[in-house]
Amino acid sequence: MSETIKEESLITNDETILLEAKALSHEFDYKLFENINLILEKKQSIAIIGVSGSGKSTLLNILSSLLAPKDGEILFDKQSIYKISKKNLLNIRREDFGIIFQAHYLFRGFSANDNLEIATLLSGNNIDKELLVKLNIEYVINQGVGELSGGQQQRLSIARVLTKKPKIIFADEPTGNLDKDTAQTVMDTLHEYIKKNDSGMILVTHENELAMQCDKVYKLENLHLKELK
Ligand SMILES: Nc1ncnc2c1ncn2[C@@H]1O[C@H](COP(=O)(O)OP(=O)(O)OP(=O)(O)O)[C@@H](O)[C@H]1O
Ligand SMILES: [Mg+2]
Repeated sequence: MSETIKEESLITNDETILLEAKALSHEFDYKLFENINLILEKKQSIAIIGVSGSGKSTLLNILSSLLAPKDGEILFDKQSIYKISKKNLLNIRREDFGIIFQAHYLFRGFSANDNLEIATLLSGNNIDKELLVKLNIEYVINQGVGELSGGQQQRLSIARVLTKKPKIIFADEPTGNLDKDTAQTVMDTLHEYIKKNDSGMILVTHENELAMQCDKVYKLENLHLKELK
């Protein structure tokens, strides 16, 4: 009897965990962090703050499948993502992970709409018109990417990532170019998305106020993640 209960709780646990980082360590010229452990659950948002150069982007790159850590592992969907084949890792990155970079990679020379179409082709989802209205970019959708302002491009790249319907959003200062109100709208859109889709988000930001709106907040400091919330 007690064994059954034990098993059940294990299963529930497994189903709520989206991503698990175990004993991560990394360094370039100097040691950035060591023995970092982190769990992301469904519907949960985690913010990571810390001074410039502390290694936030490096940590996010490792968590989001872009950079193998020097030590430790990342578990997603019962797989250790740097131990599986390149092809499987690419599939996870393409289908399950939504990565929002500070420098956004839109296809220049194409319209805003073309850039969204590409995401729908990859994922089989439709462009969510409501999302475009929420992000206040529906009226620039037929313009070329080169004609959009920096903030409009940033919101377009966020719309493109959400169109993919990712299970996890990794965002590196996604509101860096935006005024306060627009930044709040973007954050509200991201929070709403993860709650509605059973997804999770790991956000790197310099803005404490936006960080504190996340379920958990960590500061990368002295090689470790310090829990602030
Ligand atoms: N590919 C790389 N090769 C060598 N060194 C790197 C590489 N990427 C990052 N670094 C170094 O690692 C350190 C941490 O960089 P990282 O970009 O992770 O910091 P950050 O906390 O995101 O800073 P910021 O807040 O300025 O974005 C820096 O000293 C940086 O020069
Ligand atoms: Mg950075």
